[in-house]
Amino acid sequence: MSLSRPDPQPLGDFQPSDRWSTQVNSIFYGMLGPEIHKHFQTYVSQDHRLAHAVAENYFEQARKRPGETLFVQEWGVGNGNLAACFLSRLQELDSEGRVYPRTHYILCDYSLEILKGVRANARLQTHAGRYSTVLVPAEKLECFRPQSTFLAVSNEIWDDQATKVLLKQGDSLFEEYLQPKLDPAQVPIEFAEFIKLFNDENLEELKKLPPFLAAVVWEHDFQRVDVDDWPFGEIIKNHIAEAAEGIPIPVNLGAYQTLERALTLLDPDGAGYTGFDYGMFSLTELNTPSRPYFNLYGGQYTFMVNFDLLQRVGKSIGFSGTAKQPQHDYVAKSLGQRAISVLELVQAHPKVSEMAPWDVDLLMLQTLQALNGTYKSPYKNPFQYPALPGTPKKQRKQIKKLVESLSPYGVPDTVAYVSESEIFSGGKQLSRLGYREKDLRKALNGPPPPIAFSCINFC
Ligand SMILES: C[S@@+](CC[C@H](N)C(=O)[O-])C[C@H]1O[C@@H](n2cnc3c(N)ncnc32)[C@H](O)[C@@H]1O
Repeated sequence: MSLSRPDPQPLGDFQPSDRWSTQVNSIFYGMLGPEIHKHFQTYVSQDHRLAHAVAENYFEQARKRPGETLFVQEWGVGNGNLAACFLSRLQELDSEGRVYPRTHYILCDYSLEILKGVRANARLQTHAGRYSTVLVPAEKLECFRPQSTFLAVSNEIWDDQATKVLLKQGDSLFEEYLQPKLDPAQVPIEFAEFIKLFNDENLEELKKLPPFLAAVVWEHDFQRVDVDDWPFGEIIKNHIAEAAEGIPIPVNLGAYQTLERALTLLDPDGAGYTGFDYGMFSLTELNTPSRPYFNLYGGQYTFMVNFDLLQRVGKSIGFSGTAKQPQHDYVAKSLGQRAISVLELVQAHPKVSEMAPWDVDLLMLQTLQALNGTYKSPYKNPFQYPALPGTPKKQRKQIKKLVESLSPYGVPDTVAYVSESEIFSGGKQLSRLGYREKDLRKALNGPPPPIAFSCINFC
């Protein structure tokens, strides 16, 4: 039998990065819907702590506004878990029934498949009457009345929206161009026919094909550019003047469009727009040599968010407040103590970098088991953790056994937040697994890495 080598062929010409990445993402969400979480988890897709923190902040502000219905909008909603946990926490906080009954939560997304998944979310369904779903892109929210929204919120949408990439060399600027390629052997139809379906974003036909998105390979090129006629060209130039040479700089244009829409939609006396995402917090992180600037998850193309530039744009379009903080600090305030994700905890293990991937899986599951001794979730989440392809039989069996032993009211997810007290009250068990106290303290209190999760409130 002869095995032919992959021979990726172009799906089109080189185009500016925002053009191709948005097309691929719209196909990704349009085809997968809630299945996206087989490729990545977010801080809200299973866990409740970030959602609860948002609900607590909202409750504090909303209770000062008696009377009318208050609208909360979420843009880019995934499986609807943020909305469900927000409403559950709000209901719990609002023991006198003053805020929850007059709150209406609108879940907006540009993917019908995603919204179908949201409507089937059982946790959200317990809040029937308190929410609705709207099919709309976050750059075009004109269907809503100006100043009608008390709070807007989004998690990990800016990284998916249109993003251009600039590179500074001396006095010249270069823009990144991308070209997607695929080996024709990946699809069981004529390649020309596939290219047409791909470029027409024909989701119905593309869904019938075997999964192909993860097999797309990307060519990168940089071409000279003048940003004078770009939206916010002057602000971009001022920002670039402070940026280091030779490191790709994301310019999240889609997020800027959403900010403009937010300014129109928000009630000036409301709680503003709180957005969470990952990227470079300030110029210091932006100027870190060799830091990444994009990621691929199962075919989805995401860019790091350039928070310094986002904040400058927010100010320029008229937001008087643009408070920015690490996301962990936002959650820590709600918990009254420091918190990190379980994944960060596992990464602090002194041996983790020498372990085989399946041994890291076992360590993760044993760590969850140790934490579950003290951790109690208010929600039931049967834990899922399939073994990686290539995991040897023995470890596969151990993984299965450990997963079955985990409590459905335990830590819900590998990226769930765990607090300092939960970590240290499981201390003995964690030290038996090889964790050292000094590493755990460093993970909890150390500075965030160059690419980290952050939060901005625009008001
Ligand atoms: C990375 S997922 C995050 C989902 C959810 N917020 C979470 O954190 O789990 C991005 C979500 O934003 C949606 N989305 C991406 N670009 C969008 C756009 N331009 N307008 C509206 N929704 C968008 C996707 O369909 C998906 O639901």
